[in-house]
Amino acid sequence: MPRLWIDTVGCQMNVLDSELVVAALRRQGWDLAATTADADAVFFNTCSVRQHAEDKVYSALGRIRLEKERRPGLVVGVLGCMAQKDQALVRSRAPWVDLVVGPGQLHRVPVLVEAIRAGGGPQVEVALGRTAGSRVEIARSFESYDPDRDPTMRPNPFQAFVRTQTGCDKFCSFCVVPHVRGPEQARAPDTILAEARRLVAEGCREITLIGQTVNSYRWTGGGTTHRLADLLVRLDAVAGLDRIRFVTNYPRDMTPDLVAAVRDLPKVCPYLHVPAQHGSDAVLARMRRGYTISEYREMFAMVRAELPHAAVTSDFIVGFCGETDAEFQATLDLVRESGFKNSFIFKYSPRPGTKAFQRQPDDVPEGVKKERHRVLLDAQTEASRAGNLPFVGTRQQVLVEGLSVRDEKRGSAGTPPAADGEAQLTGRTPCDRIVVFDAPLRLVGRLVDVDIVAAGPWSLGGLVAESAAGAPVPGGAEVACGTPLPLYPIRLPGVGPEARGT
Ligand code: SAH
Ligand code: F3S
Repeated sequence: MPRLWIDTVGCQMNVLDSELVVAALRRQGWDLAATTADADAVFFNTCSVRQHAEDKVYSALGRIRLEKERRPGLVVGVLGCMAQKDQALVRSRAPWVDLVVGPGQLHRVPVLVEAIRAGGGPQVEVALGRTAGSRVEIARSFESYDPDRDPTMRPNPFQAFVRTQTGCDKFCSFCVVPHVRGPEQARAPDTILAEARRLVAEGCREITLIGQTVNSYRWTGGGTTHRLADLLVRLDAVAGLDRIRFVTNYPRDMTPDLVAAVRDLPKVCPYLHVPAQHGSDAVLARMRRGYTISEYREMFAMVRAELPHAAVTSDFIVGFCGETDAEFQATLDLVRESGFKNSFIFKYSPRPGTKAFQRQPDDVPEGVKKERHRVLLDAQTEASRAGNLPFVGTRQQVLVEGLSVRDEKRGSAGTPPAADGEAQLTGRTPCDRIVVFDAPLRLVGRLVDVDIVAAGPWSLGGLVAESAAGAPVPGGAEVACGTPLPLYPIRLPGVGPEARGT
């Protein structure tokens, strides 16, 4: 049985893409390898959003070179955004790569791998570039690839991503995504619904809808137009599903009907990731974000009025072309005043092919970018800590996801906790706050009530409600304000501002 080793970097789209590639190969008789040394194929599913993410892939390709020299039959593949963006460059920098497949061609991976293994030589398949034809031709070249799902292919069977649309048409001046993931194309609501029902039948309890601008979702057919709010109404009615999330939101498309849907539909989580990117109008204009900061603030105020307890999170770029001290200060002010649950903070990285790369010099020195990153991160850390403190003394519903990082490390060091023994587990509240608590492993995949007893900036500490009943629960504001609180070593994907800081 041939074995595959796959490394995934980047966003949720890539996590889902990797799941689907693994599933397709498994159906052809492949299994997963634990290390590259016992793999017959080594794939890197790549990200092009920042240079650093690309550099890491080239380093990894350098490390795999020796393995390929020892075993020429090993298939080395570069999948995803770097494959689309730099198909020729990848093979010239790393000629030992056999397979280069863009995000729109991933369904072809099994056939291409077989062709390589049969002696057919290197295989490259990517979609058309954004100026290489008519919109329809380009869109068609990014084929949709969301086949049947299988719970054994996911990191855990009770959570799943579901794609609402591919690509992006917003063309923010800094962003490579519209170039590598192609035109925005919505999936039909019936297809999304059918996938959700199937996932629930397989034991899935939480679905996260994903799209580059998920709230721009619009599908027209049969004389009607479906928006994201309509989709949420239909998903909320799926029996057996407990939680629905959706990411990422575009500020201008955060419409009152969508906010009302989040407010009124019980399964839709009060968690909104709405990246502002910057706090200054001049920079937002240079970024071609399509809104002013007062429009962002209005949207934010509407969300706060309708959903006072919702967690709102953001992305920010520091050191964008021409960013002055005063402009940076505007971002800092926005973070200090908004109370984002967390923000992903990135240093600007010029991306070939984008408008900013072509027209605006990357003129903020690296040292200044670093310092602004640190200052903004500190401000967000304070905001996150302040936002978490009021949870101490409350009871929260948590979907238990697995071992905490601490116990995960212990497990990989050879002392995994017994299935029925206590372990340090982690899960999330509906508003996406991470909770860490001691409980038996069998609770993984279940919804449990947890009494929150401690808070740090990136996680809450708690006691499972039943065991908390008789236990002294250090209570409320006193503990929160006066005592140094335990912090938990949690770094799950997508958590904390540094987690996506590639
Ligand atoms: N809509 C997408 C955005 C993808 S990129 C989503 O699903 O999140 C994710 C984040 O990376 C962006 O919000 C932006 O903050 C950051 N980013 C994008 N291009 C960048 C660049 N050239 N340099 C630094 N950060 C960038
Ligand atoms: Fe990128 Fe802007 Fe689209 S950040 S993914 S071009 S909304």
